[in-house]
Amino acid sequence: EEKEEETCSFTVPNYACQRRTQLHHHNPSLSDALTLLAENAELNEDDGRAVAFRRAAAVLKALPAEVTSVSQLKGLPCLGEHSLRVIKDVLKDGSCSEVETTKHSQRFNALKVLTGIFGVGVKTADRWIRDGIFNLQQLRESQTTLNRAQQAGLDHYEDLNQPVTRADADSITEIVQEAVSSLFPGAQVTLTGGFRRGKMTGHDVDFLLTHPEEGREEGLMDKVVSWLDSQGLLLYQKTSRNSYLESRDGPGRPSSNMDRFERCFAIFKLSRGQTSPPAGHQWRAVRVDLVVTPISQFAFALLGWTGSKLFERELRRWAGHEKAMSLSSHALFDKTQVINTLFREINMWNCSNHTRSPVSEAIPE
Ligand code: CTP
Ligand code: MN
Ligand code: MN
Ligand code: MN
Repeated sequence: EEKEEETCSFTVPNYACQRRTQLHHHNPSLSDALTLLAENAELNEDDGRAVAFRRAAAVLKALPAEVTSVSQLKGLPCLGEHSLRVIKDVLKDGSCSEVETTKHSQRFNALKVLTGIFGVGVKTADRWIRDGIFNLQQLRESQTTLNRAQQAGLDHYEDLNQPVTRADADSITEIVQEAVSSLFPGAQVTLTGGFRRGKMTGHDVDFLLTHPEEGREEGLMDKVVSWLDSQGLLLYQKTSRNSYLESRDGPGRPSSNMDRFERCFAIFKLSRGQTSPPAGHQWRAVRVDLVVTPISQFAFALLGWTGSKLFERELRRWAGHEKAMSLSSHALFDKTQVINTLFREINMWNCSNHTRSPVSEAIPE
């Protein structure tokens, strides 16, 4: 039996973006355990550890069969000591004590509930926890000052924490499509995010808006948002030109994956006929992201907004480390070309000034 286990070990490519991964896979109990630890690391702002657990979970999701013994995992990428220990525990006992302890810890649960409020990030949630606020009821009773986003998030908490269905996404696509084509003939609406990946549910609905003529997308967002508002379809909206000011990281820590497209974080009000509201309700709230891109950057924006977050991160890491290229939601460029152009300019300057001998090019073309 041991021999058989040795022979059926797995191999996968190093980067998540090089692997085909299905929504339904063979190792949900292992990937769930690692994902919970990733989530906990994110909630505690330990990004290094969070990415390590996300990568480990992604490797397990990509395997062609169920793992029955850790020996099958020998040589696989992204499985560090910590992840292997978790996997070993789950294989042996069906659960891992670190995962169980985390899952039931007061801090983890409080952070989950509080950051589950639209507009509340980990820093705010952590501050509230230190003030003794662990749940929605305590938050409501505490008379804590909330900003407009957080107030909307708290008001629509139940709705926004219900999964958005494919049917909801289709009906919102129709609404946005109607608004865009009546206001800006020729402009295009593209569904992105999880629904573009074929997921059946999501936490929001993501759209890219563009116009086939460069520059003609200008003014699109304002018009669309005003129209939606005039139709009573918006419970909340915040439009911004510069994304990083809006990010969960805050302006002090601009994340390199953040793009700078004009965007709108909105909460739509869908009535009966457009969605199935909860029993006894006439409508439900749904989170919607709208992003406007010039057509020249549309391809990169589409790639960048399709996700998943780990896939995007890995694609950028692969581009950088394996191809010496730099990928963002705005562009793809060859870093060696940029560096060599820079060196050529330095050489021209040095030679013309007879100050130094030429420097060699950094990376051969
Ligand atoms: N994204 C981004 N910048 C942001 C937010 C999101 O570039 N400020 C990109 C991410 O790459 C992400 C994609 O947009 O993969 C969609 O983000 P999100 O809606 O958060 O995730 P989904 O994959 O759509 O999952 P869900 O179904 O939970 O919405
Ligand atoms: Mn460790
Ligand atoms: Mn989404
Ligand atoms: Mn989104």
